[in-house]
Amino acid sequence: MDMGLRGRVALVTGASTGIGAATARAFGGEGARVALTYRTNKDKATRVAKEVESVGGEALTVRLDLEDRAGIAAAVSAVVQRWGGVDVLVANAVRWGGSAPDFSARFEDVPAEEWQAMVDANLLGTADVVRQVLPSMRARRWGRIVLVSSGVAEEGLPGPGPYGTAKSGLHGMARALAWNAGSDGVLVNVVAPGLTLTERVPSLGSHYVDTFAAAVPSRRLSTPDEVARLVTFLGSEANGNLTGELVREGSSAARAPHVGG
Ligand SMILES: NC(=O)c1ccc[n+]([C@@H]2O[C@H](COP(=O)([O-])OP(=O)(O)OC[C@H]3O[C@@H](n4cnc5c(N)ncnc54)[C@H](OP(=O)(O)O)[C@@H]3O)[C@@H](O)[C@H]2O)c1
Repeated sequence: MDMGLRGRVALVTGASTGIGAATARAFGGEGARVALTYRTNKDKATRVAKEVESVGGEALTVRLDLEDRAGIAAAVSAVVQRWGGVDVLVANAVRWGGSAPDFSARFEDVPAEEWQAMVDANLLGTADVVRQVLPSMRARRWGRIVLVSSGVAEEGLPGPGPYGTAKSGLHGMARALAWNAGSDGVLVNVVAPGLTLTERVPSLGSHYVDTFAAAVPSRRLSTPDEVARLVTFLGSEANGNLTGELVREGSSAARAPHVGG
């Protein structure tokens, strides 16, 4: 299937590792111009950029921190200056705010500052990236936006709530945006992966991985490449008119597994 991405400009945030890196490579394989953002891992982003080029895409690496609004505007403007606009946004970057979820943490014990930081980065920072790219999409009367959420936003998990709360805000944002920008040719969707076999996941421990795998219909976790293929379809011309939808990627198609007791 021709995805219609050759020469299109795709901005993939948080592309130095994991699902973002796989998505950047997938867009590269379709002949897109891919702007990859990183926050701390410039070397890894540079390596991914080389992979994008090796599979037929063009690449540009830009620093973007969801907690730095001026930096977000500067990052998007660097992409627009280089390639004249942005056709596709994959808002994938995430502030994790800790190494692994503490399933025994009580809701009320999470400090207010952590709530603030999580929502500020993952919801409001993402909204800011969208605000920055929309004018060029409207001007071209074509755009695709994919917001990367999490199964946690739908299913919940025992333990603290700021991450899932911030992510679920993206779902409402996608619905609003789909209506707001639809008549300008901009389609907006959410992908909610379940636990995915990115670089950091094995370090969470085999119990963690096995428990999540046992709770999904396929009895296995998805790879970043599998999530990336779905994201790439939604962010392509092959997606003709699917908008305002939440697509749960395989691993999140189950009810919350009983993790941590
Ligand atoms: N992996 C999973 O199991 C899983 C499950 C459900 C949903 N998701 C979602 O999928 C997306 C990708 O997850 P992943 O596991 O692939 O992530 P990851 O490998 O940990 O990569 C996170 C990316 O975000 C960047 N980043 C970190 N803090 C940032 C900040 N404050 N501002 C801007 N960028 C920042 C990182 O940049 P540097 O490395 O350069 O600092 C990196 O490029 C996220 O939205 C996540 O919520 C993942």
